[in-house]
Amino acid sequence: MITRGKQCLYTGVVGLVMTAMFLALSMRSGSNVPVPETYSNADSTSSVALPATQREEIDLPSHPSPAKPVANPKTKQNIQPVRVINEKPAVEASKYPEWWLRAWPRSAVASLLGVFVGDQPLFPPCQDGNQGQKGYTFVEPRNYLARSKSPCWYEDPKGGKGLRCAPYFYLAGVAKGGTTDLYRRIRLHPDVMFGTEKEYHWWDRDRYGSSSKDLGSGIVNLQGGMSLRDYLSRITGRDIREVAAELRDGGSSVKVFSDGSPSYLWDSFYWVALDGNQGCMEPRVITGHHIRHFYPAAKIILTFRHPTPRLYSRFLSRIPRTPEFRKATSLDFHKFVVNGVRMYRECFEKWSIRHCTYNHTLYQDAKVRLVEGMYPVFMADWLRIWPKEQMLILRYEDYSQNMESVLRRVFDFLGLAPLNRTQWDVVLAQEKYNTGEMYEKVGKMLPETKLILDQFYQPFIYQFAEIMNDSRFLWAETSH
Ligand SMILES: *[C@@H]1O[C@H](CO)[C@@H](O)[C@H](O)[C@H]1NC(C)=O
Ligand SMILES: *[C@@H]1O[C@H](CO)[C@@H](O)[C@H](O)[C@H]1NC(C)=O
Ligand SMILES: *[C@@H]1O[C@H](CO)[C@@H](O)[C@H](O)[C@H]1NC(C)=O
Repeated sequence: MITRGKQCLYTGVVGLVMTAMFLALSMRSGSNVPVPETYSNADSTSSVALPATQREEIDLPSHPSPAKPVANPKTKQNIQPVRVINEKPAVEASKYPEWWLRAWPRSAVASLLGVFVGDQPLFPPCQDGNQGQKGYTFVEPRNYLARSKSPCWYEDPKGGKGLRCAPYFYLAGVAKGGTTDLYRRIRLHPDVMFGTEKEYHWWDRDRYGSSSKDLGSGIVNLQGGMSLRDYLSRITGRDIREVAAELRDGGSSVKVFSDGSPSYLWDSFYWVALDGNQGCMEPRVITGHHIRHFYPAAKIILTFRHPTPRLYSRFLSRIPRTPEFRKATSLDFHKFVVNGVRMYRECFEKWSIRHCTYNHTLYQDAKVRLVEGMYPVFMADWLRIWPKEQMLILRYEDYSQNMESVLRRVFDFLGLAPLNRTQWDVVLAQEKYNTGEMYEKVGKMLPETKLILDQFYQPFIYQFAEIMNDSRFLWAETSH
């Protein structure tokens, strides 16, 4: 076990300010919304108060010891640690609650943060012996044509026939982070091909034969899912002909294909059955590994949003297709949140944050998608798999405020030809993708719910800002 002092990365100033804010807020809320016992406090007259641990003084931090090189299991060569975590934290000072300080270091990756692995597993094997016995491995990369910007190849290279292309970029997260609106605009660029839809969910779900119901019962059938070929034909749609024609004439193609499934970042729920994860309590190999192995040069775009409003927005968007949520009110949401938070907090008492985050049973039982906002767990993993230069990390809040400047960064990152003013006008004139209809029906999130969620997510936000080395991910300016 690693001691608390070693793990605590920050000092207490920000934490104290936040605590004061929470307390001030909780004083004002006095309605009759049920509040779980863990959130009420005998010392307090308000209905929602911080747990006692939140107010405790926490030891002054020392920085974690530098990561040691780990042996790459395939090449047996040492992978040199590349520190992602800054020696001088992005967050000047802060304070984690006790439960976080106990649960975060229990993870097998806690001491390996910042150690780059590429498509190799995130930590050493969990059991001796043959790690490949389940027989499900990566989708192997192809001989990608140098003349095409997207990863393309011929099934019949001699005859120059059977062109296949895979995504050049992934808009891989997060749900309710503005990805639909962003994706619609990106695809108005003449070199971005449309494909057949936005979200394919192949890497995380459709390639496996199991349904998520099976996962719940512990049965995972990896065979019998959608083939790579079928996935790619959906990715390219009819636009493959345009690229094929460009290449057939001996020219090159700058057209790009893409996949905009925002679940790739967080959905590795089949991890229990994936090769390399045998005997583990948390995954060594996740969805991101598989994407990276197949096309190591892929570009990844991720948009993050403050996790509290994100969760509510996600809940609202799921109402029409979730029978259990029919006629749901903001009070129902509150009850789901109270229950979900309790379940995760119980898990965190016994297990690591990362173990609970990747646990599918908990994900399903919690009803509301709390997991999707546990950004530092996923980003710590993805930053070890993907080089930082291949990732563009955006904030929903910036996109909402200045769409054009964010889009410029996106087009630039993807290396797409600059648009002229007329083309920009078309991209910007596209009607905003609007999901506000449910807000009108259900109303705003209750302040009590917001308080519970802000408090629950607070250490995740701190850790996220630390992992990103960027204080904008504290969302300090956001009043949601
Ligand atoms: C973290 O950010 C600071 C300031 O933005 C920068 O100087 C430093 O190099 C960054 N550290 C890492 C490890 O990227
Ligand atoms: C996930 O959590 C549930 C409930 O806490 C537990 O019973 C189960 O063993 C966990 N699953 C895994 C794979 O750790
Ligand atoms: C902008 O580019 C498009 C596509 O290349 C072209 O048809 C159009 O004439 C250009 N408009 C201006 C104002 O340059």
